[in-house]
Amino acid sequence: SPAHAAGDGTRPPTVIAHRGASAYAPENTLAAVDKAAELGIRWVENDVQRTKDGELVVLHDDSLRRTTDVEEVFPDRAPWKVKDFTAAEIARLDAGSWFGPAWAGARVPTLEQYVRRVERHHQKLLLEIKNPALYPGIERQTLKVLANEGWLDRRHVAHRLVVQSFSADSVRTVHELKPAVKTGFLGTPPVAELPAYAAFSDQINPSHGSLSTGYVSAVRAVTGPHGKPLEVFTWTVDDAERARQVAGYGVDGIITNKPDVVRGAVRGA
Ligand code: G3P
Ligand code: CA
Repeated sequence: SPAHAAGDGTRPPTVIAHRGASAYAPENTLAAVDKAAELGIRWVENDVQRTKDGELVVLHDDSLRRTTDVEEVFPDRAPWKVKDFTAAEIARLDAGSWFGPAWAGARVPTLEQYVRRVERHHQKLLLEIKNPALYPGIERQTLKVLANEGWLDRRHVAHRLVVQSFSADSVRTVHELKPAVKTGFLGTPPVAELPAYAAFSDQINPSHGSLSTGYVSAVRAVTGPHGKPLEVFTWTVDDAERARQVAGYGVDGIITNKPDVVRGAVRGA
C-alpha cells in the first residue's frame, strides 16, 4: 500500500483528507467524508471525543461552539463543552450551517456512524484521539467501537487504520491494548528519543513547519513496533508548492484540507 512505500521516494505520498475534505465541506461531518470520496481520496482523518453520557463523537474542538449552532439551541450552557452534553442533545445540533447554508442539517456524527460511512466508501481512517486527558478510558472504548464495526479484523487492521494522538500515553495505551493496530504520535520528538517512541508508535506525525529532510530520514531510520521503518504523516499542508517540498523530504503522507490540490501537486513527485 502507498502508506508503506511512499517514503522511500518511489511513490508520491499518501494524501489524507484532514477532518474529511474540510476545505469543501464542514469538518468532521459525514458530508466531509463523502466529499473526500467524491474526489477519489482514500484516507480521511478525524477527531474523537466523548459525550456526557459516554458516547464517542467526531468533533475537533473541546467545545461545540465554533462548528455547531449550540449557542442558539442551548444559550445557557456556556462554554458548551462536548463532555457536558448528552449524545441526544448533540444529535439535535446543526454542524453544517456555520460552513455555509448549503450544508444546513449536517450533524455531529457518532464514531459508529462515521466509520460506517468511511467503510461504505472503502476508505481508510486516520483516527485521532483528541484531548484524552478529559476522557479516561477513551482508548479502550474507541477500540471497542472499532472492533464491533469489524475494523480490527485481522485481514483489515493493518491496511486501513491508524490511531494517533498528541498524547504519547494515549498512543502507548492503544498499542498495549491492541498491538495489531497501527499507531501514530503527533509531534516532533528529538531524534535521540525516537527509539523510545518506536516501542509503541508506527508513525511520527509532525507539523510541516518542523520538518526537514534530515529529520524525516532520521525517523525512517528507526524500526517501529511492527518491524518496519517508522512512517511520517505531516500536517496540515494545503499549498501545492509546499506539498511538493515536503514530498521531497520523503514523507509517507500529507494531511490536508485540500486533498485534490495536494494530490495534483505530488503526483509523480
Ligand atoms: O492529523 C493531524 C492534525 O489533525 C493535528 O492537529 O488540531 O487539526 O487536530 P489538529
Ligand atoms: Ca486532528
